[in-house]
Amino acid sequence: MASLARIRSVVGRSVSRVGCGLTQFGRREASTRATSSGKEFSHYEVRVRADKGGCETLSETMMCFGAQSVTLSDLHRGTEREEEIFSGNEKWNQGEKWKDTLVVGYFAEREACTTCIASCEEVLGEMLEYKVEEVFVETHDWENVVLESYQPIQISDALWIVPTTVEPPEKDAVSLMLSPGIAFGNGGHPTTKLCLRWLQSSIRGGEEVCDYGAGTGILAIGALKFGAKAAVATDIEETAVRITEVNARQNGIREGDLESLLVSSTITGRIPGGVESFDTIVANILMGPLLELKECFLESLKSGGKLGMSGILATQADEVARAYSDELEDVKIETLDEWAIVTGTKK
Ligand SMILES: C[S@@+](CC[C@H](N)C(=O)[O-])C[C@H]1O[C@@H](n2cnc3c(N)ncnc32)[C@H](O)[C@@H]1O
Repeated sequence: MASLARIRSVVGRSVSRVGCGLTQFGRREASTRATSSGKEFSHYEVRVRADKGGCETLSETMMCFGAQSVTLSDLHRGTEREEEIFSGNEKWNQGEKWKDTLVVGYFAEREACTTCIASCEEVLGEMLEYKVEEVFVETHDWENVVLESYQPIQISDALWIVPTTVEPPEKDAVSLMLSPGIAFGNGGHPTTKLCLRWLQSSIRGGEEVCDYGAGTGILAIGALKFGAKAAVATDIEETAVRITEVNARQNGIREGDLESLLVSSTITGRIPGGVESFDTIVANILMGPLLELKECFLESLKSGGKLGMSGILATQADEVARAYSDELEDVKIETLDEWAIVTGTKK
């Protein structure tokens, strides 16, 4: 079984000037230089072998004298001599350690390594045998690695969310294009999926839709692509309002079909647009605001209009459904993973 290394990141602990009984660990060596082709410098490691009684004191002393972090691990890890001792448990805290421990200090600069060791030697009153290693990691073209990680997300049959960096996977499907890395999510969250599936199945064509808590505006854009006549997207974040406008243009939504509005989180009155002005309201926010906004949603919805509420856990769905049950009919709950959408039609 692997022995777990422990990362220490506490700085500036005081230590007593006691010898730590370090076992000899080779001679002082020059640092090991790795080839830099295809790799980039990461950090320096100072590797010291210590025995059971000395490893704690040594690691604390290294932390006191400049190590950014220190790990302890079984020196015989991966060999027949490996001891099954797990760090961090009660026994560990009571002093149970490996017989031979490898203490590794991490540093950003070479000079800090030697200064730290000199200070440890002074404090501990003995010479340490140590090794400094310069650690390199593979160089990555991070921009491309990240871009490659953006892939289309299938929401349902013939409905995809597609990053603008890739081609839509199905020519005849509805593709909702989102810029990769944009704030407010990539649209793949289960609640967004639940809302999009509901909109796809309930929009008949020609509806006035409100996407309350629009984020990227994906639900409003989706509704328009499914055939709605016009959409109002609201959010309490200015960035979301702007992003919704950008995403609308990116998806070829005609100017004037989607209105992106900033609303206050404290206003629970009417949605800008008027009384009984929406055929469909979709809100993917949290349970608290869904309950607070009940009057606002119901007043803004036409009689016979549809309401879809998500952003809630499956365990919260009954409470939301109950809160709206007097004013809605045909109330349904759909779930995906641990998330839910509550839908209904205004009586
Ligand atoms: C979970 S995101 C949903 C984004 C998008 N509609 C979707 O389905 O992917 C919730 C959004 O609602 C906004 N929001 C939270 N509380 C709100 C409130 N009381 N009124 C309007 N927007 C709110 C947040 O700023 C956020 O952009």
